[in-house]
Amino acid sequence: MRTPLVAGNWKMNKTVAEARELVSVLQVKLGEIAGVEKVLCPPYLAIPAIAEMLQGSGIGLGAQNLYWQEKGAFTGEVAPNMVKEFCQYVIIGHSERRTYFGETDESVNKKLHAALKVGLTPIVCVGETLQQYEAGSTSEVVRLQLREGLAGVDAASAPGIVVAYEPVWAIGTGKASSGENANHVHQRVIRPALSDLFGTANADAIRILYGGSVTAANAAEFFAYPDIDGALVGGASLKADEIVAITKAAVRS
Ligand code: PGA
Repeated sequence: MRTPLVAGNWKMNKTVAEARELVSVLQVKLGEIAGVEKVLCPPYLAIPAIAEMLQGSGIGLGAQNLYWQEKGAFTGEVAPNMVKEFCQYVIIGHSERRTYFGETDESVNKKLHAALKVGLTPIVCVGETLQQYEAGSTSEVVRLQLREGLAGVDAASAPGIVVAYEPVWAIGTGKASSGENANHVHQRVIRPALSDLFGTANADAIRILYGGSVTAANAAEFFAYPDIDGALVGGASLKADEIVAITKAAVRS
């Protein structure tokens, strides 16, 4: 049985003071919810302060990115062990990183290996663009992203990876995928692809999250499907009531 996971990706929002204010509410309200793994991914600069606040709360902390090199002359980058000093999770290959910062399946793969090496739980994002969706190439696109992004990972480490299916057309648009469509991709595309890579037992242990305009109003529709193991939430994770309601909806009945 896979434990559901709900992660809030704050993206480039909130100063440290604002982050503290939100977390002062979340540490109590999210802390009370059992049966779901809860993760907050604030901007880097807020991470040390939030790490301190979350101690003993049962809420995990994640970064939104990392670099694969251990250290050195890489201006502006953050190394895996620097993330690991405060966090347990890291988002890798978010579509905004792919679109605006030139990330590819190859860089995703390097980051994934670097994250696993230091013991971070990677949340690897995949998903097709609107054009690819309309062309009917979702399966092909997602399979390739998984094959290349997850290349070279040994089967024994695979259950420690989290995959987030985030159709690009649903991110920040208010136009979420239907639960049925997301479940179809999870069940018929992603899990079989993971099974080809790592074997059925390992693939069955991997959490596959849905992301893209998840809100308190539509969360239950996704979590009703057994192959949707939680959510990666952007905009709605900036509001305490929303992320608390989404997390409650993820509790398996
Ligand atoms: P959204 O973002 O919930 O604002 O659509 C999701 C994501 O980018 O992870």
